[in-house]
Amino acid sequence: MDALKIRGNGPLTGIIDISGSKNATLPIMAATILAAGESRLGRVPDLADVRTLQRVLAHLGIDIKQDGKEITLDATNITEQEAPYDLVRTMRASILVLGPLLARFGRARVSLPGGCAIGARPIDQHLKGLKKLGAEIKLEHGYVEATADKLVGAEIVFDMPTVGGTEHLMIAASLAEGTTVLRNAAREPEIVDLAVVLKKMGVEIEGEGTERITIVGQKELKPFVHDVVADRIEFGTFLIAGAMIGESLTLRGGVIEHQTALLDKIKQSGAKVRVNEETQEITVSRANKLEPVNIKTAPYPGFPTDMQAQMMTLLCQAEGTSVITETIFENRFMHVAELGRLGAKIRVDGGKAIVNGGDKLSGTTVMATDLRASASLILAALVADGETIVRRIYHLDRGYEHIEDKLRSVGACIERFKEE
Ligand code: EPZ
Repeated sequence: MDALKIRGNGPLTGIIDISGSKNATLPIMAATILAAGESRLGRVPDLADVRTLQRVLAHLGIDIKQDGKEITLDATNITEQEAPYDLVRTMRASILVLGPLLARFGRARVSLPGGCAIGARPIDQHLKGLKKLGAEIKLEHGYVEATADKLVGAEIVFDMPTVGGTEHLMIAASLAEGTTVLRNAAREPEIVDLAVVLKKMGVEIEGEGTERITIVGQKELKPFVHDVVADRIEFGTFLIAGAMIGESLTLRGGVIEHQTALLDKIKQSGAKVRVNEETQEITVSRANKLEPVNIKTAPYPGFPTDMQAQMMTLLCQAEGTSVITETIFENRFMHVAELGRLGAKIRVDGGKAIVNGGDKLSGTTVMATDLRASASLILAALVADGETIVRRIYHLDRGYEHIEDKLRSVGACIERFKEE
């Protein structure tokens, strides 16, 4: 198993390029199932989750070719409508192949998904929506089996703004007869990027990025060419690195508008932020003294749950008490115990974490427990005294493209090694 060895060694300076978004790439790849022909997807990040979905799609019969950051996916000869457990278990987003298979072939069978253990993460909203479109759904032997003669547009009101649920229903509704209206829809930038792709495929969509999305389904769709939007969570993670130990650390290729909630909090903490709207670059430098800040996670455009762990590490450096409230996932404080091993003083009380910051962290061996928790540990290691070993970084490889190379290029002392 791979691990990272990190030595806290002073400021990060230079330029980091932001990669394409994992969470936009996955639903867009699933959408290729909708149309025969060859779609081309550019700026695809080199990540374990993307490779997992490639394996699922290849299993279905999609012909996939990769040329650097571009992949072509030819969905002309889909021969299989079943995604088995062995392929699906490591990644929850695999469930997104259910809707498009059902919409195009009238039948699909997909293993119930696994993924990061950050909460119960049910898929009831996905299934409720597909039923509304006319699907018959059976849950048996750990599989979801969906059948329908045809899907017919409907009005679907989500109980909560679910990102995956909104994406799944947008994709399925694209081949349904008539109009689907999604209410209480999620508004994340990845949903807008998916809408751009579905429109290229011939679907009429309005309202993406708002809580009400209208999708006019089509009889047949065509393949597309598209470059994936920038990864706002990778961007945010490096912004926090800059706020903690940056000295003119510049981040290039991200979308600044996606960082509004995070930048507000980073500025409140006292870190120095320079935004260049024209080039869409942000330059961050640490402050002499960081101030405590309270944060509460919320669906976009609120403070992202995917940035909560990294923000917690920053607040460990702020002198005073910060309160972090997690409202999206019920079990997303697993990094607290590991940060504690590095010397952080954090107490969890239900959905709140109370951070008493200001103490120097000191390096030791820690274990990554989920994707964003891994990032929070790396950030902590970069400011800790001495050497930190971060184990179980396979979580990290699911969502951060070549993170150690990117950090090393701006001065971090970080290397990957194989553990016995
Ligand atoms: C997406 O997960 C992201 N994953 C997650 O990113 C992210 O944390 C999450 O959205 C919230 O922003 C991808 O895009 C691949 P949800 P998703 O459905 O779609 C509940 C990362 O680190 N819910 O918006 O699975 C659910 O339990 C990850 O990259 C139901 O109850 O999240 C949660 O409490 C991890 N029933 C809330 O809604 C449902 O049917 C929001 O979940 C669906 C969701």
